[in-house]
Amino acid sequence: MSGQTKDYSKYFIAPDLLQAKRRGKEEVQIVQFEQLPKELRSLGAGKKYLLQTYGCQMNVHDSETIAGLLEMMGYSSTEDEKEADLILLNTCAIRENAEDRVFGTLGRFKQYKLEKPDLILGVCGCMSQEESVVNRILKSYQHVDLIFGTHNIHRLPQLLQNALYSKEMVVEVWSKEGDIIENLPKVREDGLRAWVNIMYGCDKFCTYCIVPYTRGKERSRRPEDVLGELRELARKGYQEVTLLGQNVNAYGKDFEDLDYRFGDLMDDARKIGIPRIRFTTSHPQDFDDHLIEVLAKGGNLVEHIHLPVQSGSSEILKMMARKYDRATYLELVRKIKAAIPDVVLTTDIIVGFPNETEEQFAETLSLVREVEYDSAYTFIYSPRDGTPAAKMQDNVPLEVKRERLHRLNEVVNEIARQKNEKLRGEIVEVLVEGESKKNPEILSGRTRSNKLVNFSGPKHLIGQMVYVKIDQPQTWTLNGVWVEDQKVMVSGVSS
Ligand code: 5AD
Ligand code: SF4
Repeated sequence: MSGQTKDYSKYFIAPDLLQAKRRGKEEVQIVQFEQLPKELRSLGAGKKYLLQTYGCQMNVHDSETIAGLLEMMGYSSTEDEKEADLILLNTCAIRENAEDRVFGTLGRFKQYKLEKPDLILGVCGCMSQEESVVNRILKSYQHVDLIFGTHNIHRLPQLLQNALYSKEMVVEVWSKEGDIIENLPKVREDGLRAWVNIMYGCDKFCTYCIVPYTRGKERSRRPEDVLGELRELARKGYQEVTLLGQNVNAYGKDFEDLDYRFGDLMDDARKIGIPRIRFTTSHPQDFDDHLIEVLAKGGNLVEHIHLPVQSGSSEILKMMARKYDRATYLELVRKIKAAIPDVVLTTDIIVGFPNETEEQFAETLSLVREVEYDSAYTFIYSPRDGTPAAKMQDNVPLEVKRERLHRLNEVVNEIARQKNEKLRGEIVEVLVEGESKKNPEILSGRTRSNKLVNFSGPKHLIGQMVYVKIDQPQTWTLNGVWVEDQKVMVSGVSS
């Protein structure tokens, strides 16, 4: 392959805060995805694809679009690496260990390529938006055939055609921050729960985070497109929809002709016959009173809010450029709890941000106790190339960070357990997803607040909304018994 001699730098925005903050508004276009030309519609006939997804729900949902495009081309899916004609890795760049896993997998596939030279190996997702990653692939993973970025997904059929007929590695990663492509095909993971993008990108530029560079600027889908998709999912019988965005609370801020924000969207979504509507993920800064007021109306808007705090120390929050301090966050939590008394709050926390002191870390512990999160995703800070925080000197040794993570997790788990204990003896509404991963005799599903529930019951309950009485709450899951004589009558509303 001769791809490695090319200069691909023109395809990228290397993480550059000043440049990225100059993002223009005028460039976003809404493009309708057109039917594929005939020659592309049969390109994958009789062939199998394997799609491996890393990272967040945004990536999981992108994979549904990728699968939709591949199936439009005639490909069918397989889980078996040996039988795949096409292997695509949809990657995550949020922390270093996510990237390490992908490079490990790419290394392992080298052997497959030798055994099966016609195999097409592709890399997409957030890692492919990083110039350093693409250069590393060009240099050390020359058996990769195709790299495409998060803004180029709709171009997959053409790119795949190029990869099939070209001897060179095909690389297409646009530095343009992205348009909105409507009408893309999707193969939804199941017929029960669906994800719907409401916006793309992020303009928050938290100093540790790579996302604003890999996902481009904030751009909202038009309300009529989002609501139209929700109505279609309702018609198809979906029971639960999660509205997706890196920062859903910024929804609509970029509309120049409309005064319509996330609260308005939720209020309109509330009137659509889908039993449960969730959203993720929200930034505390844009969480306004109107949204709280709408969420308090309940119904199909579930009482779970994921509200990443990242740190309990105002000084660290400032260094993270989170744009709120401890007091403002706690005030928001107070307002939410006052309006939605049974709300379940969850969060994301980073420990070991550069130069975090023991006192600052202790503030995170005390905030967790004060808010009483039902659960939290906790991470050790991982420097990301080109982000402002990666340039900061850091005097906190890794062992100290690990020990802080451990202490934090102990507190998070203790509170999670107490919270779940409160549900002992309670009857909760469960959307039954399937057999439990550990034991096929047991069914599992989720409450409105997204807690995992295991119970025994007949298989025909899968896909239904049922009631379960919790008798053994644990830290991570709730075990219970099916309440057979009680039926959930109305979508999202207890009978
Ligand atoms: N290091 C560690 N955690 C990070 N996150 C984002 N960037 C980093 C990083 N560089 C975490 C944040 C975010 C979640 C999705 O991942 O907590 O909310
Ligand atoms: Fe990253 Fe979220 Fe901050 Fe955006 S709001 S920069 S996605 S942590």
